[in-house]
Amino acid sequence: MVFKGFIILLLSILISIFDSLTQTAQWEFPEDFKFGVATSAYQIEGGWDEDGKTTSVWDRITHQTPAFIADQSSGDVACDSYHQWERDVEMLKELGVQYYRFSLAWTRILSGAYTSTVNQAGVKYYNNLIDKLIENGIEPVVTLYHWDMPQKISTLGGLTNDAWVKFFSHYARTAFELFGDRVKIWITFNEPNIICHYFNSVLGSGQPAYPNGVIEYLCSYNLLKAHAEAYHIYNREFRHKQGGKIGITLNFEWAEPATDKPEDVEAAERRRQFDFGIFANPIINFDYPKVVIDRVAKRSELEDFPESRLQKFTFAEKLNVKGTYDFLGLNHYTTWLVSNGDEASLEQSSFYIDTKVSRVQDDSWNTTGAEDNRVVPWGLRKALNWIKSTYGNPDVLITECGYSDRIGNLDDNQRINFYRDYLNATLQAILEDGVNVKAFMAWSLMDNFEWNQGYLVKFGLYHVDFNDPKRVRTMKDSAKYYQKIIVTRRLD
Ligand SMILES: *[C@@H]1O[C@H](CO)[C@@H](O)[C@H](O)[C@H]1NC(C)=O
Ligand SMILES: *[C@@H]1O[C@H](CO)[C@@H](O)[C@H](O)[C@H]1NC(C)=O
Repeated sequence: MVFKGFIILLLSILISIFDSLTQTAQWEFPEDFKFGVATSAYQIEGGWDEDGKTTSVWDRITHQTPAFIADQSSGDVACDSYHQWERDVEMLKELGVQYYRFSLAWTRILSGAYTSTVNQAGVKYYNNLIDKLIENGIEPVVTLYHWDMPQKISTLGGLTNDAWVKFFSHYARTAFELFGDRVKIWITFNEPNIICHYFNSVLGSGQPAYPNGVIEYLCSYNLLKAHAEAYHIYNREFRHKQGGKIGITLNFEWAEPATDKPEDVEAAERRRQFDFGIFANPIINFDYPKVVIDRVAKRSELEDFPESRLQKFTFAEKLNVKGTYDFLGLNHYTTWLVSNGDEASLEQSSFYIDTKVSRVQDDSWNTTGAEDNRVVPWGLRKALNWIKSTYGNPDVLITECGYSDRIGNLDDNQRINFYRDYLNATLQAILEDGVNVKAFMAWSLMDNFEWNQGYLVKFGLYHVDFNDPKRVRTMKDSAKYYQKIIVTRRLD
């Protein structure tokens, strides 16, 4: 009996040792998971009028309305990546990333009055960059549209003019032709809801001038049609020979109900559907989410519009948009506590009023350098789970996630904590919840031009000296931390 007891004890010790060994062995990123970093053309390139590049809306805003930018700066030089791109590739190598997400400047590749002429010098810049990345085993992830609309197209009404679909299709086809032999991951748009609903850059202006519940939905409608068209062009003309993938990047701030009252739970879900579902649902499921259709119809009626302000798809258009994705790109920064809002005055119409929610952030959540971007790692896990359950667990690439400050210190422990916790939330979503997350791309490779915050808000893993003509880059501690995670594929 004593002997038998001993054997059982021994066995159970062995089993628990084995358990803990396999568990720690499993608490790491799956083999096919990719790490990367992200940037965008206007935020880093500079060379704003070099070698045949034409004017984008951001060139125009920063030059004509400097007061719109917090420090009155511009992306004229930015990180000077137009000249320092080899240094950028060195940094990517140093980090050990598998993916580099960047965007093409439409105005660098296509010139002429209405962007129908290929600008060889611009093409050469991206060829050099892409070739160098591939030479170093880094896969390019390329965004076609990251907000820098050609100024000329903006004057035609930007995304409110359905001619935009044709301009964008021509640009997308040109990009696939020029770079698709080497670029295998394409993203049509970055953050449509910022383009159409929040930054009000519907016309490409980027200025908060058009909170208008008619043109905001016209923008989403044309944007979705342009996205679908680019997808179909890729599918029909390029996929068989190039074999890549194409998707869209949506940003998603998690909406957590402020209380468990049914109207707040409903409000949080409404907010998710207005923010994310309005783009994801037509692409993945079919048509706009029902709650969006019903709510805009109701509010339009209250405002005495003859019909809903939501621009409806025809049945053929719904079919054409459905299924136009190989993966879903997700940008995620923060979380809100959402409650049911009051019906706003009927004098105004806007997307935001239509959502009929109010939102706050908890004071106990750590702040960051960007207003309203508090640190809430569990929000990412919830967002990923919601995507899984709402859309049938599509492949998700986290195309942006990052921490900003206003100090730019090299010993940036605040950023290390952020990545530790958000990467852990990602890992939990993958390992414990079975969400199909395939990649994480940190925003951003380096400090850069943060839109209307100029250079005041810094997101970089590398510090950039904006006073130095060479824009010297220096590794921050967070870059060293990320480097280590990429090697070990673990967080501890
Ligand atoms: C909040 O900040 C503190 C102090 O810097 C840090 O220890 C903690 O990990 C942070 N929490 C999160 C969730 O980032
Ligand atoms: C990640 O989360 C798990 C589960 O909550 C926790 O046990 C672990 O300590 C976390 N890892 C790090 C590096 O924070």
